Amino acid sequence: MRAFIDGIPKAELHLHLEGSLEPELLFAIAQRNNLTLPYASVDDVRHAYQFSRLQDFLDIYYQGMSVLLYEQDFYDLTWAYLERVARDNVIHVEVFFDPQGHTDRGVPFKVVIDGIHRALEEGQKKLGISYRLIMCFLRHLSEESAFETLEAAMPYRDRLCGIGLDSSELGHPPSRFERVFAKARAAGLKAVAHAGEEGPPDYVWQALELLKVDRIDHGNRAMEDPALVNRLVQDGMALTVCPLSNLKLKVIETMQAHPLRRMLDAGIIATINSDDPAYFGGYMSANLIAVQTALNLNKDAVITLAHNGFRGSFLSETEKAAALARIDAFVVDAGTGD
Ligand code: ADE
Ligand code: ZN
Repeated sequence: MRAFIDGIPKAELHLHLEGSLEPELLFAIAQRNNLTLPYASVDDVRHAYQFSRLQDFLDIYYQGMSVLLYEQDFYDLTWAYLERVARDNVIHVEVFFDPQGHTDRGVPFKVVIDGIHRALEEGQKKLGISYRLIMCFLRHLSEESAFETLEAAMPYRDRLCGIGLDSSELGHPPSRFERVFAKARAAGLKAVAHAGEEGPPDYVWQALELLKVDRIDHGNRAMEDPALVNRLVQDGMALTVCPLSNLKLKVIETMQAHPLRRMLDAGIIATINSDDPAYFGGYMSANLIAVQTALNLNKDAVITLAHNGFRGSFLSETEKAAALARIDAFVVDAGTGD
């Protein structure tokens, strides 16, 4: 099963590039930028990655990303992620970045997007990984700041597929961003939002009804509301589920308690993703293996999850069909063994 999970062609739809900054690269970039970190060693950094809720993680995540200053830093970050997931047979990625986490420190938007975009283009050419780029608004900041960020992004509109909403969920409902999402959608951008990770089912409703999202990030707590589950199924709305993240941030108590199987049984298009793999201890295959083992998922369920990654993506229908055919060819090749 492990080899099957490693080998099956995969899409990743919920990945914060800044959350893929491994401690080794964090140190290397800090050193070349003449910055001092509050950690003595890579081991020391990994030791600090103990969280009891989302905010504990976010504090360390914003501190980590503050070493990123130059175009090359953003390139190296993105390239390291792509090289890593190529080994997991990820063939398509839809990645997030948090521009305000950089522009608020004085790093120009252009520097951030130029570095990321150059690596994504190179990943497409050299690794065969197709991509979409999604810019997230930090929900703990103001609506005004989100509007400014959208404005700053407009010269790069053709490099962006969509917008998202992330950071501290509790106390920052989607409703606060209704207008900026409407403006972004009017510019033809897709919309996604983190909802129902720590926040209540009502935040998922708001993401659907007010932000008019095309996809929900996390969505775990939607399972508390049967009417919401029906709505997600009826809309064919994909959820980007992140098992190891959920465990590390104590959204679930144990992996055995993960709602993924209930999501699939209800008919929701649940997808598996890594969120912030440098902080949560695993990339795509590790997330699939963790949840498959804990929930005792069979091969058909794993195939469904691989399919869902593409069904829930922003690829064209032709591209989706080609990816699904690649999965099916892999399954045939792999035969009937475990
Ligand atoms: N930013 C990075 N990872 C996040 C997560 N899991 N939830 C909210 N904001 C985030
Ligand atoms: Zn996330």
